[in-house]
Amino acid sequence: MGNGLFTLLQIYLLFVSFSTSALGLRKFHVVDVRAFTSRNVCSGPKDVERHMSVKQGLKIVDRHGPCSTLPPVEKLSPEQILSNDQSRVDSIHRQTSAVSGKDKTSGPLNTSQVTAQYGGSYSTANYIVSVGIGTPSKTLTVIFDTGSDITWVQCEPCQQHCYMQKDPIFDPSQSSTFANVSCNSAQCTGNSFGCSGSSCLYGVKYGDGSFTVGYYAKDTLTLTPDIIQNFRFGCGQNNDGIFGEIAGLLGLGPSSESFVSQTSDKYQRVFAYCLPALSSSTGYLNFGSSSNMPNTKRTPIPQHSDPPYYYITMTGLTVANQPLQITSTVFSNAGMIIDSGTVITRLPPDAYQALRSAFRQHMTQYKMAPRTTLLDTCYDFTGYDNVTIPSVSVQFLNNVSLELDLNGIFYVIDISRVCLAFAGNSNPRDLGIYGNVQQRTFNVIYDVPNEEIGFSPEAC
Ligand SMILES: *[C@@H]1O[C@H](CO)[C@@H](O)[C@H](O)[C@H]1NC(C)=O
Ligand SMILES: *[C@@H]1O[C@H](CO)[C@@H](O)[C@H](O)[C@H]1NC(C)=O
Ligand SMILES: *[C@@H]1O[C@H](CO)[C@@H](O)[C@H](O)[C@H]1NC(C)=O
Ligand SMILES: *[C@@H]1O[C@H](CO)[C@@H](O)[C@H](O)[C@H]1NC(C)=O
Repeated sequence: MGNGLFTLLQIYLLFVSFSTSALGLRKFHVVDVRAFTSRNVCSGPKDVERHMSVKQGLKIVDRHGPCSTLPPVEKLSPEQILSNDQSRVDSIHRQTSAVSGKDKTSGPLNTSQVTAQYGGSYSTANYIVSVGIGTPSKTLTVIFDTGSDITWVQCEPCQQHCYMQKDPIFDPSQSSTFANVSCNSAQCTGNSFGCSGSSCLYGVKYGDGSFTVGYYAKDTLTLTPDIIQNFRFGCGQNNDGIFGEIAGLLGLGPSSESFVSQTSDKYQRVFAYCLPALSSSTGYLNFGSSSNMPNTKRTPIPQHSDPPYYYITMTGLTVANQPLQITSTVFSNAGMIIDSGTVITRLPPDAYQALRSAFRQHMTQYKMAPRTTLLDTCYDFTGYDNVTIPSVSVQFLNNVSLELDLNGIFYVIDISRVCLAFAGNSNPRDLGIYGNVQQRTFNVIYDVPNEEIGFSPEAC
């Protein structure tokens, strides 16, 4: 009980049956609201063999779940997670509205500035992987984030400040393959990083005030069994913020210094992940063509002037099999990105209103519960054995329709507060964000050369 119960916040909403009316017009899930606590058990992906056969498969765990090896003291409450999530979204919005003006800021710290606006709160980028750095390789647990570009880890001697982390802090002097990126190299000048003597300096400041500053370096990165030589990353000498006790961050964004770009020869800018639905299970992060899966529905990545995100085009929402009446300009005026680090999907205000209103209409038999700051459609399921929930689907360009599983519909604070896991932006022009609650259990493939994002359900 105690910690596990209140911090992990997972109820099992067990899928019991699935009913479609004779006319196929309305669709509901009957859900067994059986367990309120998370099992403190770490179980693997459903299809273990398939994922083990995937060469670059990295195990993903929820930072706040039982598979996480971080100490429980670092686990956040649902309110903290949501509040950090809002900080991240605010910085994405600040950045994108600033950028949509005209000049994409020139001058030094171009790249840092780009990143600065959104890594937001790391505590909302809930998923971590372990990678090896150096020779001999040292295992480090890092957050991975499709909304960040620069990879960094805390580095000895931590000239100014390192926060506490669980793994030993990476010590470059112990690695025979470590080298600094020189100040006059293309990777340094091309990114307008700073210089100190011959060292290239990087700095990333996140929306919530978290930051990492240090020198830009390269070393061998191991993603068992693959080895990437001369991988460039930030060696953090001054790091602080709400990073928990992770060693750093793996940047999977689209810009040139991201992991995805640096490994383009090897993996052709194709990667996929499955974010586990329950804190107690693990997902994966794959790189390369092995990321593809059968039954993948693909939607184009619209080309966009703001490079640091992966864009996606939402076209509609469906509740209980009934498409909501939302004018297409509601989506097109705002635009949307898909982000592994944002928790709750943010919709343009009109789209959210339509979703909320349809959802509430199908839920009138249940007692509503107090809203959170972010989530305004919450229910008290206390005393029920099972509840009947309307299905929710999202549509993307190219006839891609994804039916969300229950973990994609609800954000569970506890059984007396089970909330619709969507939120509306306040400004109709603010970017929509397809968040990680709705991505869970799908294999989400980023096929950058083909400019497509694909989804296949029930992957973990
Ligand atoms: C900043 O980045 C943009 C896009 O990557 C690039 O076009 C611009 O030249 C950069 N500015 C500087 C000063 O490097
Ligand atoms: C890399 O640069 C940092 C900062 O200037 C310096 O302290 C460190 O000794 C350098 N390391 C190597 C291997 O050159
Ligand atoms: C839901 O619960 C009710 C009352 O507890 C029960 O009668 C019904 O059979 C349950 N339905 C399902 C599908 O489990
Ligand atoms: C869109 O998808 C649905 C079901 O997935 C299919 O029945 C329909 O024919 C598709 N429409 C087009 C235009 O491809």
